[in-house]
Amino acid sequence: MPLTIAIDGPVGAGKSTISDEVAKRLGILHLDTGAMYRAFGLCCMEAGLDLNDEAAVSALCGREEARVDVRYENGAQITLLNGRNVSGLIRTQEVGMAASTVSKYREVRRVMVQRQQEMAKEQPMLLDGRDIGTVVLPNATVKVYLTATPEARAQRRMLQLREKGVNTPFEEILKEVNARDYQDTHREVTPLRQAEDAVLVDSSNLTFDETVQAILSLVEAKQ
Ligand code: DC
Repeated sequence: MPLTIAIDGPVGAGKSTISDEVAKRLGILHLDTGAMYRAFGLCCMEAGLDLNDEAAVSALCGREEARVDVRYENGAQITLLNGRNVSGLIRTQEVGMAASTVSKYREVRRVMVQRQQEMAKEQPMLLDGRDIGTVVLPNATVKVYLTATPEARAQRRMLQLREKGVNTPFEEILKEVNARDYQDTHREVTPLRQAEDAVLVDSSNLTFDETVQAILSLVEAKQ
């Protein structure tokens, strides 16, 4: 089995950027699985579906026009919805919330998990998400549960938005972080939780480099 690294954790823990860097240092591909749920969430929004209508959302999931693919350009992930590059469009708070809602449904998870497992069979990969260590790659070489306090995550998010020229009050972002945490950990089908054999990395008081290093050390220890 090729090298597989599973990184799970709540929204805003820095999974995407940390995973990108760890994968780059190891010379392997990084699959951001949240981007796949986001692309499908966007598809449901564009189709004008009521996201709470599980039957309608599930029916769309299997269809060709809702096909979510991933390809890589110079090592960077490009997320495709029915062949269209939606990598930028899926980065809004609204699409994030839509992804959180549609990812509750069993059929949606079945389709996405299958696609993710197929990709990780082909080559060494780092996957980040919510259920990688528990469901997608139960036999991953290294499993990490990357977290930070809700306040630390909201603070980082606020600074990221500010860099983009968006000024959102801290309290509002914290509320959004708590709402996403609640929805992701309380859904019926494979809620976010730490796998028993995952190593907890709390980045609340770690710098970016320290967090990357902590994960690389875990990988080295296994190799
Ligand atoms: O990591 P993210 O914020 O881009 O993920 C968007 C939503 O997708 C998240 O709120 C929950 C869902 N998700 C999931 O259920 N399972 C995954 N492996 C990845 C994301």
